[in-house]
Amino acid sequence: SKKAFIFDLDGVIVDTAKFHFVAWQRLAASLGINFTEKENEQLKGVSRVNSLKKILEWGDKEISPELFQEKMDQKNIEYLDLIKTLSVNDILPGVHDFLLELKSQNQPIALGSASKNARPILEKLGVKDMFDVIVDGTNVTKAKPDPEVFLNACNQLGFSPQDSVVFEDSVAGVQAANTAGMISIGLGEKDILHEADAVFNHFTDMPQDYINTLLNKKK
Ligand code: BG6
Ligand code: MG
Repeated sequence: SKKAFIFDLDGVIVDTAKFHFVAWQRLAASLGINFTEKENEQLKGVSRVNSLKKILEWGDKEISPELFQEKMDQKNIEYLDLIKTLSVNDILPGVHDFLLELKSQNQPIALGSASKNARPILEKLGVKDMFDVIVDGTNVTKAKPDPEVFLNACNQLGFSPQDSVVFEDSVAGVQAANTAGMISIGLGEKDILHEADAVFNHFTDMPQDYINTLLNKKK
């Protein structure tokens, strides 16, 4: 049997979450806004523009549209600088083997990411060709927790949502997968990702033959 396997990027395939955190924290500081891990958790999976809106809300700050744009550009320049040395060594534990196993079973693979930097990042990691479909922040109009990104991916692969599995590290992404009616697998901490159908710290923590388990799993 087959299912559509849909992967989030940041925090699932590669440990870029820490670099987004640094860049957002610098930006918040430049506006005199306090920004900790706790706020950062709520920005995971959230688009660039919505992230800045939330930071301004938390800091009770209003800025002009010009400054808003300037801050977004600046955040991305700093982020790109932080990830410039990204390489295959930054793929998270077990991900590459998991993708290889899916490939050997001819299972369809998609990316479902909010990031506008997704394609160049997959290239740096050397795994872009493993994806049959890539849906990223340049393709969608509605950001996670809206299910658009995942529905778009499973449609392109020709699968229905109930035959799709999503791997996510963010609360917004798990909610998007659940709203779409897809199996949601959380990568991270159980108490944060408690809405997911199953949670693992890393792909390496999944039981033997977990792909087979997923193929037989019903939502
Ligand atoms: C998500 C990240 O994958 O992409 C967020 O979890 C990030 O932290 C969002 O803000 C948008 O990414 P980018 O690369 O377009 O700024
Ligand atoms: Mg993520």
